[in-house]
Amino acid sequence: MENKVIDESVQGSAVMLKTETSFVSDSKKLYVESYGCQMNFSDSEVVASIMNANGYATTRNVDEADVVLINTCSIRENAELRVRNRLTEFKSKKAKKPDLVIGILGCMAERLKKSLLEEEQLVDLVAGPDAYRDLPNLVEEVGTGQKAVNVLLSRDETYADISPVRLDQGGISAFVTIMRGCDNMCSFCVVPFTRGRERSRDPETIVEECKVLFEQGYREVTLLGQNVDSYRWNLSSKGEIKDPNRPTVNFAQLMEKVALVSPALRIRFSTSHPKDMTDDVLEMMAKYENICSYIHLPVQSGSTSVLERMNRSYTREWYLDRINAIRRIVPDCAISTDIITGFCGETEEEHTDTLTIMDEVAFDFAYMFKYSERPKTLAERRFDDDVPEEIKTRRLNEIIAKQLQHSLTSNKNQIGQVQKILIEGNSKRSEAHLSGRNSQNAVVVFPKEHYQKGDYVFVKIEDCTSATLMGKVVESI
Ligand code: 5AD
Ligand code: SF4
Repeated sequence: MENKVIDESVQGSAVMLKTETSFVSDSKKLYVESYGCQMNFSDSEVVASIMNANGYATTRNVDEADVVLINTCSIRENAELRVRNRLTEFKSKKAKKPDLVIGILGCMAERLKKSLLEEEQLVDLVAGPDAYRDLPNLVEEVGTGQKAVNVLLSRDETYADISPVRLDQGGISAFVTIMRGCDNMCSFCVVPFTRGRERSRDPETIVEECKVLFEQGYREVTLLGQNVDSYRWNLSSKGEIKDPNRPTVNFAQLMEKVALVSPALRIRFSTSHPKDMTDDVLEMMAKYENICSYIHLPVQSGSTSVLERMNRSYTREWYLDRINAIRRIVPDCAISTDIITGFCGETEEEHTDTLTIMDEVAFDFAYMFKYSERPKTLAERRFDDDVPEEIKTRRLNEIIAKQLQHSLTSNKNQIGQVQKILIEGNSKRSEAHLSGRNSQNAVVVFPKEHYQKGDYVFVKIEDCTSATLMGKVVESI
């Protein structure tokens, strides 16, 4: 089985991964393509597992597939456009091979429901993020000449009992979903509509999955959720204990359980929310060396008035207080962020607030986006998308230019340090070099010598660009 990243957009490696999936056998064949966030990538592994148990092997050759599933993203309009173009290509394949089943999964499936199937006739099957257990039935329905849809959202589906089929066997780093859905209503965001209510996964199944991954040779897990800080097992949203015979577990406690799987297993997590990120999470990071010193803490805007229109539930000052807490409790922590530029009504002054918060925090890395209005969101209903396209573009370019400076400075400050690196594989540019990441999530490239992927090495940093650190392996710190 093989998994290959075939495209990585400039705007966000994690945010815009596109992957192909494969493993070969004589059984019926499934081809899965994933777009969007890490959660989609992780969901495709659950889908592969469910289809696997029903007699489907995956293939990376779309021409030999019996079923093509495309796991989609709705977060911005251009993410949807890319998928639509791809669906048109698949449709032409179906013209030559009428038995081919084409299905759409994920956020676009949930958002557009029957329209892709009935009005646009682009697909045979539509399955939302909580309907993947039903996929084998849906494929069968299509086989009997019907169009198949299941877009029911669930209050409790977490796929907790399904061991995902890892799509990069021999990999080092795996995603582990710890919760699904989102109860925040950020006004720009379509996720609460496409992924439904927030629910946490049973911690025992999470720890078990991490143990198995470690035994298989994985050395890093990323705990995934739309808002990991509100992970809450065995507590209702009102704070009542659900099962008196089981303990309650919050995110900090879950991190500790996973950190104890092995000191050689690195723990990362994404995404944190500034309104919910508590000091006990930071204290747990400081307590365990294998919990990486890296937090992705989306700010979205540096202006309190924009944050209010975005319904983010925090102010500029609150965000800066959380940054101070990180610096105080985990001093070596790297911080990355997401920024949206040109949100409804954004004035020049509000944009300047974003530029100044970037200077105050000096983010190590940022994913930066132009605001893209999404149907049904609070912002679409309440506000005008009134910042002209050329102004959005100019402001985006200003924040990108600023971030490049900050990333370069952050990397330059690391020259001379000796850092512990987990080796992920060959460097993209040179067979003679290996590439890995430091605890702070920066990519580090160094000569191969006799080292191998999965090894931990100490690397002395000697040079850098704004994106990469370069160095040489040394004996120890
Ligand atoms: N337009 C632009 N960017 C968006 N994001 C979410 N919704 C939108 C939108 N409508 C960005 C946010 C979020 C990241 C995953 O995508 O910055 O944190
Ligand atoms: Fe969207 Fe906000 Fe939930 Fe993140 S926290 S998924 S931005 S609604």
